[in-house]
Amino acid sequence: MSQPASPPVHRPVLVDPFLALGFPEEGTIFVDATFGLGGHTRALLSRFPRLERVIGLDRDGEILDWARREWAAEPRVVLVHERFSRLPAVLAGMGIAAVDGILLDLGVSSWQLEEPGRGFSFSRPGPLDMRMDRRTEGPTARDLVNTLPEEELARLFAEFGEERFARRIAQAIVRRRTTAAFTTTADLAALIEGAIPARLRATSPIHPATRVFQALRIAVNDELTELEQALTKAIDLLRPDGRLTVISFHSLEDRRVKQAMAMAARGCRCPPRFPVCTCGQQPTVELLTRKPIGPTPAEQAANPRCRSARLRVARRLPPAPAREGSASSGRPPATREVAPARRERARRPSRPDGSLWPGTPENDA
Ligand SMILES: C[S@@+](CC[C@H](N)C(=O)[O-])C[C@H]1O[C@@H](n2cnc3c(N)ncnc32)[C@H](O)[C@@H]1O
Repeated sequence: MSQPASPPVHRPVLVDPFLALGFPEEGTIFVDATFGLGGHTRALLSRFPRLERVIGLDRDGEILDWARREWAAEPRVVLVHERFSRLPAVLAGMGIAAVDGILLDLGVSSWQLEEPGRGFSFSRPGPLDMRMDRRTEGPTARDLVNTLPEEELARLFAEFGEERFARRIAQAIVRRRTTAAFTTTADLAALIEGAIPARLRATSPIHPATRVFQALRIAVNDELTELEQALTKAIDLLRPDGRLTVISFHSLEDRRVKQAMAMAARGCRCPPRFPVCTCGQQPTVELLTRKPIGPTPAEQAANPRCRSARLRVARRLPPAPAREGSASSGRPPATREVAPARRERARRPSRPDGSLWPGTPENDA
């Protein structure tokens, strides 16, 4: 595969809240599961001198080639070309049972977005590709646009792009491809622009192709399945006090992160109408961010691309002793008890100067 035309550039987002919440003071092993160019890892290594090892994963072999050269002189960083849903196997292969922090900084980097050859951007003419890893097999955006039935395209744009005009755009695509297949980003973007009502085209705050391009990228890379699988596995891989940090960029991602963390923090999965807990599931994490943290106005001004970024952090709790009546204790059921997460809330996250982060429960009140 050819090298990128321009040297990769990416400005890491939400670094300050990540450093304040995303790693315990005594931690030694960190997984940067979306390494990219390693911006978050760089910040973490300088903030936590005790950090002994960073395992960096990225599914994009091209970006990892650059990262390997950039990070060759840093013995604490080990880079692995792998998807983050495969993290348990990666760690098992290294003989590591648990780690102190895991970061998922979702989506694509600025470099991937801006490299026309990757086909992610409607504003840069290029082949309609969108695969995060061009070295593996798999359908491209071009394959999906030129072969999926109209119904499927409409469903995909509605579900993964939350696109209001999903049906109309799908219809226009299918009509047009009977005469000529789509091959470039510019070609598809122009068709989408023409398919939506003219009055909305003029007033929309985002490019009319934004949502369809997002939907295609999610489908090509199966991003939501990847995320769902990684979320449950990642929590199990944390040591007590270890942190899972996820930075998401749209509501489909953030909803999944919120639900997975809330479920782990709740523990009990019994229906609300049950008077007593019979499942015996204990909370495994405490939420350090009840509401997600977004960028400050200053960060948004410096890096407009971070506007939609949202950071959530969950902290792994120590294993709870088996409760009477839990499925594992073999004793009769007990009444519901207060989750350890509540007791631990006194340790709420704060900035280095002692003030609270925006988005923490107390600030939202
Ligand atoms: C927003 S960038 C991360 C940037 C990085 N934090 C930095 O500061 O340079 C997201 C990266 O995650 C990678 N990625 C996306 N989905 C992935 C997955 N399922 N497994 C592994 N890497 C993934 C992308 O290839 C991209 O390089």
